[in-house]
Amino acid sequence: MKLFIDTGSVAEVEEIAAWGVLSGATTNPTLLSKEEGDPGDILRRICELVDGPTSAEVVSTEPEGMVAEGRALARLHPHVVVKVPFSAAGLTATRELTSEGIRVNMTLVFSATQALLTAEAGATYVSCFMGRVDDISVDSAAVVGEIVDALGPDREAQVLAASLRNPMHAVTAASLGCEVATVPGKVLKQMLVHPLTEAGIERFASDWQSRPEFGEWLQGLVSQGEPVAR
Ligand code: G3P
Repeated sequence: MKLFIDTGSVAEVEEIAAWGVLSGATTNPTLLSKEEGDPGDILRRICELVDGPTSAEVVSTEPEGMVAEGRALARLHPHVVVKVPFSAAGLTATRELTSEGIRVNMTLVFSATQALLTAEAGATYVSCFMGRVDDISVDSAAVVGEIVDALGPDREAQVLAASLRNPMHAVTAASLGCEVATVPGKVLKQMLVHPLTEAGIERFASDWQSRPEFGEWLQGLVSQGEPVAR
């Protein structure tokens, strides 16, 4: 399962892109509205940093407006994927944009029936909001699982799990067969953490320091600086 970062913050993308685990990014009007600066510059910078699909959302609710905004967003950078909220107008706009070679991420999809319509309209990504489903006391794993099953193993549209609120949402999305999960920076940082990993690193460091001559040996090796023969 590919990992995208779900944010409008260039600083957050810069920090986490350095881990080498990101394949893309998603933004939305709420996330971008929290940021200072020109939205176009922010989106272009995020595209460059993740060097992969970066979703930018239309705000019009009419097909013509969605298509016009979609074309404009797509012109910002080759990595831009146009994010379209699910609706009948959104389906119409998706069909038009995809017929022009513009990739669409259909967002605010909350059911298998909406996902089936989204896939038939030609969307590249079907975004289901796990956190928001859980917020209304509905089991997001059941909803995402039904979407994956309904679209089938030979699906062209990729199931993108969004609105992830905790690390286990990412595990659930992967286990259910989602192609992508878009994860807030805070949750990506939580995914790093395990007490045994920290304890293990401390133990290795203290055991190594108990043999200072080994430290000198390794420093000697480092200072030799010969290229690694592979
Ligand atoms: O990409 C969608 C995501 O940003 C929504 O997250 O936490 O507002 O449900 P949330």
